[in-house]
Amino acid sequence: SVNDIEVSNKKVLVRVDFNVPLDAEQKINNDKRIKSALPTIKYLIDHHASVILLSHLGRPKGKVVPELSLEPVAKHLSKLLGENVIMMNDCIGKRVNEDIGRMKPGEIVLLENTRFHPEEKKNDPEFAKQLASLGDIFINDAFGTAHRAHASNVGLANILPSAIGFLVEKELKYLKQQLGDPQKPFTAIFGGVKVSGKIELIKEVMKKADNILIGGAMMFTFYKALGYSVGKSLVEEDKLELAKNLLELSKKKGVDIVLPVDTVIAKEPQKNAEFKTVSVEKIPNGWMGLDIGEKTIKKFKRIINESKTVVWNGPMGMFEIDNFAHGTYSVAQTLADFDGITIIGGGDSAAAVEKIGLENRMTHISTGGGASLEMLAGKELPGIAVIPERNG
Ligand code: 3PG
Repeated sequence: SVNDIEVSNKKVLVRVDFNVPLDAEQKINNDKRIKSALPTIKYLIDHHASVILLSHLGRPKGKVVPELSLEPVAKHLSKLLGENVIMMNDCIGKRVNEDIGRMKPGEIVLLENTRFHPEEKKNDPEFAKQLASLGDIFINDAFGTAHRAHASNVGLANILPSAIGFLVEKELKYLKQQLGDPQKPFTAIFGGVKVSGKIELIKEVMKKADNILIGGAMMFTFYKALGYSVGKSLVEEDKLELAKNLLELSKKKGVDIVLPVDTVIAKEPQKNAEFKTVSVEKIPNGWMGLDIGEKTIKKFKRIINESKTVVWNGPMGMFEIDNFAHGTYSVAQTLADFDGITIIGGGDSAAAVEKIGLENRMTHISTGGGASLEMLAGKELPGIAVIPERNG
């Protein structure tokens, strides 16, 4: 941890994940990732380090894309910290080296988008060396990027003395330790469109869960596999066998996979489309399921309230449209009211919780979308694995 390293009077390179959503006017739509990095940044300033922040933003494909500059992030961070954050016009090069060379303890610099260089995503050793030449120590606090092996996380950790920051520490505490040995009964709730993206996750969670609640469009792949007619609901036709196998595996493992009993259907996934709730075996031709129904919500609520630990990944329906958001928001509200441990994977479920202002009522909401999914699926994250664990 950053606590274990002497940082005073050192130049500390901190990889953060400031890949935040920006609107057309370059306004930050959600600053959770920036706020989550503050504890590490503040600690370093308080301990007289010079702080050099690096991050990517979006996917500029190795070219300078002015709309993906981190400039608006520097301004926002400055406001949050009440300190000047100096924005660099690049992340490597003579000018950057000179400016960083003049930094004093307590000063903060944000380097420009690392992905403006194609070498970043290739984890190019020369590029990593140039980045490393800017600092004495490397701290990885970019949990959201930990599933990528890029120069600004893995490359730097291979060169400089390294540690993890407080955000990564917190994410590991909940996603790895707490869920590695969950208080039981342990319930996992999975939603979203595709089963295919969550196979590893479902298999891994089956090792420990008592219940797995399935919502979102992926439920229709399970139902079709069981021989139901699902109208024109989204189905992954090539994953029917796999869905069947997952159901069989759950029986062998004694895990209850709970599928919805009713669904909100419409003819089109559109705002003004006529909609109604039907039981899952009664989806008419030409209609599609877009949310879980009221009976399912009640059933899920009961199971959640009988649990001690709940993890949630993926919305229950097409919550971007109000008429199909009730299932997702009801699950969020149930979790907010629930006394046990609630861990929310990043991405859409986190966005849903935040949209209705319940973020402070969950035990932990991950800042990583892909990274939290991979961690929950039991995979090793290269950005974290590269940092040696403390001995003793
Ligand atoms: C994320 O938002 O999941 C991370 O910042 C990683 O971004 P990427 O998927 O573009 O690598």
